[in-house]
Order: sequence, then structure tokens, then C-alpha cells
Amino acid sequence: MSRTDWLGYHNSGPASPHFYPMPDASAPPDAHAIGPLDLVEYPHPALLRRAKPLARLDDAIADAVERMFEIMYTAEGIGLAANQVALPYRIFIVNCSGRRGEGEEHVFINPVLSRPRGTAIHEEGCLSLPGVRMDVRRPSKVVVDAWTLDGEPIHFDIDGLMARVVQHEFDHLEGRLFTDRLPEAAALEVRSALDEFREVFAGKQSRGEVPVDTALVAELDRLEAARCRA
Ligand code: NI
Repeated sequence: MSRTDWLGYHNSGPASPHFYPMPDASAPPDAHAIGPLDLVEYPHPALLRRAKPLARLDDAIADAVERMFEIMYTAEGIGLAANQVALPYRIFIVNCSGRRGEGEEHVFINPVLSRPRGTAIHEEGCLSLPGVRMDVRRPSKVVVDAWTLDGEPIHFDIDGLMARVVQHEFDHLEGRLFTDRLPEAAALEVRSALDEFREVFAGKQSRGEVPVDTALVAELDRLEAARCRA
């Protein structure tokens, strides 16, 4: 082997390891790790911030989605958004039957809603606001485009319960809860319940049962930097 080949100048094959970019030493080894997931309640900062589009899919995301289904079925929900388990990604899952092995499981990655039509009023609740149920007005039909975990495009024109759940979960990705969609009188009605949730959450933080907001936000920033576009 000539010296020039060794340097890689005349070598059309794989580059010599000497020419690979220096690994980013500033990235901690667990930069991409996703810790154990649990349902979070209002006002956890993950619920109040807009989730970012996923730029990469990896095994940790597939595992997280599997865990989201477990959490959703255990809590007897029919939909769950990633930020409800403190993941700042644009992912939500739906199974209108609410039972494993029944109905259809759907995973929506980087979803986009379009063509809202009609109006329907229906009672909603949220796993992040247990006990609160209110009538919410929404378009009765909507189109959703998204990606599956396998990177296949999804395109559904939906109505009924499916349209209701998809819009509720999409709101989560925007950092919005169904209580943000109430008319004034109903909003006043839930205000004390929301105040109570805030007191409970602050109490857990003051006792050290839940990290303080700056730590929670730092973890969301880390997860976002690992898998989202800048
Ligand atoms: Ni919800």
C-alpha cells in the first residue's frame, strides 16, 4: 500500500478511520435515551408546550409507543399524546375501543389536520385532567395525514368519535388542553378544578416527589435535541 493510499487520497473505497469526523465529545452517552414513561398531569410543562416534529425514528421511539399503549389501556383511555408521557414529540396514539386486542390501534407521527367540516358538541375528558369532563365543540369531520412507525404515509378522512379523539390529541401536541376550548361560562366552571391540579402539582414538587419545572424543561429540551429538527 502506497503512502497516498494510506492517507486516503487515491482510495475510492471506504475512508480510513483517520478521516472520520471526530465524535462529538460534548454529547453525553445517554443523549438519546428515553427513561421510564409515566402519565403526567396538568400542569406538567410537557403538556403546555408545543411538541416538535420528529426528525428521526429509532428503536427507543418504537418502545416508547408500545409503552404509551400500555399506559393508555391501563388508564382506560382511547387516545394518548406523547407529551402526556413527557415526550416532546409530535406523536399520538388512538384506539377508539379502549381495549387491547379490540378495535384498531393507530399511531400518528408528525400529524397534520386539514379540511375541518361541520360542528359537533360532545363531552370530553383527559387522562392528564382526571375527573374533569366538559362538553367541547369541534368540527365533526377532519382529514388527518401522518406517518406510521414504519414510515408509511397515513391519510384518513374521519368523523364521529375518531375525529373527536384525533382533534383532542392533536391539541395536546399544540400544548392545548380541551379546557382551552370552552366557552366563557364553562371555562369559569373548571377554573377551580385547574387551580386544584396546580396546587397538587406544586405540592409534589415542594416535597421533591416531582422535579422542579426547570429540571422538567431541561429533560424536554434534551429529548427534543436528540430527535427533532432545530
Ligand atoms: Ni387529553
